Amino acid sequence: MDNFGSVLLIIEDRVLSVNIKKQITELGRYEVFADTDLAAGLKSLEQKGCDLAVIQRELVKDDTAGTVARIRELDPDCLLVVLFDKKDRAAEKEMSKLGVYAFLESAENPDKLAFILEKGISRRVLLASNRKMYLGLEESNRALEKQNMLLVRRVEEATTNLSRLYEDLRSTYLRTIKVLAQAIDARDHYTHSHSENVARFVVEIANYMKLPAKDIEMLRQACELHDLGKIGIGDSILLKVSELTPDEWEEIRKHPVIGARILEPLTFLDGVVELVRQHHEHYDGSGYPDGRKGSDILLGARIIHIADAYEAMRSARSYRKKPLFKEEAILEIKRNSGTQFDPKIVDVFLKVVDSL
Ligand SMILES: [Fe+2]
Ligand SMILES: [Fe+2]
Repeated sequence: MDNFGSVLLIIEDRVLSVNIKKQITELGRYEVFADTDLAAGLKSLEQKGCDLAVIQRELVKDDTAGTVARIRELDPDCLLVVLFDKKDRAAEKEMSKLGVYAFLESAENPDKLAFILEKGISRRVLLASNRKMYLGLEESNRALEKQNMLLVRRVEEATTNLSRLYEDLRSTYLRTIKVLAQAIDARDHYTHSHSENVARFVVEIANYMKLPAKDIEMLRQACELHDLGKIGIGDSILLKVSELTPDEWEEIRKHPVIGARILEPLTFLDGVVELVRQHHEHYDGSGYPDGRKGSDILLGARIIHIADAYEAMRSARSYRKKPLFKEEAILEIKRNSGTQFDPKIVDVFLKVVDSL
């Protein structure tokens, strides 16, 4: 039969030691080591380990707490049994507090010893397997934590890649739309570079007004795309040399809404869409498409409206072969301040117009 456990005897009295060793050996379940002094006993414990140690009280009398601590240090699960010459309840009570597992009297019958061994060593086996399980759990936890960190890092990497992809996609879209807008400008050779010039003027005004860089960038994009909706208007109207009929004007007036509709699905152009829609609104509410008034019109759209009008006057158009002189165009802007244009922005415009 395999050994169920090991027992270390640290007993000074050789006769007693031999006697107890014999009793335990006869049980046929335990391996027994024996030492006659504490130092040798502790050394055996350190080298071979044991499930249960029986120590003669005389050997620990001087420093029970220190000895128990030393044994715990060598093997935290080793069970301690103290062997008394005769019953001493007070000492047992003290030692119990220190963690001594059980007490024996040298004259006690072998059954009690067998009982203590059986019960104690089963407990020790349980303790050891609990500890093993706990250590295993701890190790699994550590592995999980490591896995977790790895996952977090992977998610971070994936997010960075995604943002980069999104950025690429965004700029590809933007480029495509800009090409489209330039194509609209190019359709009418009179309005060639119109959007580009409007963007330049708007940025000048916005810079003078100290608008945040983010807003200026949005305005610049809106300018480049502001007449995109003209894509939906036929050449017969867009390039008409003679005066437009009311119905034809009606068609032209649809371009801010058509442009906004084209750009709407592009969520990254969120702020731009509304600027495109509002770029023909008049300060006094007489503009289109919604007849918005005053501060109900986006500040950016009010700026674009002035720059757009000034740029149109300063360039040749199909219906007006010669552009207006600078002074004439400025006069026209002034004349419409407070009606078509926001007077505060007209003031800024007048301050920067020389650099345009
Ligand atoms: Fe327009
Ligand atoms: Fe325009």
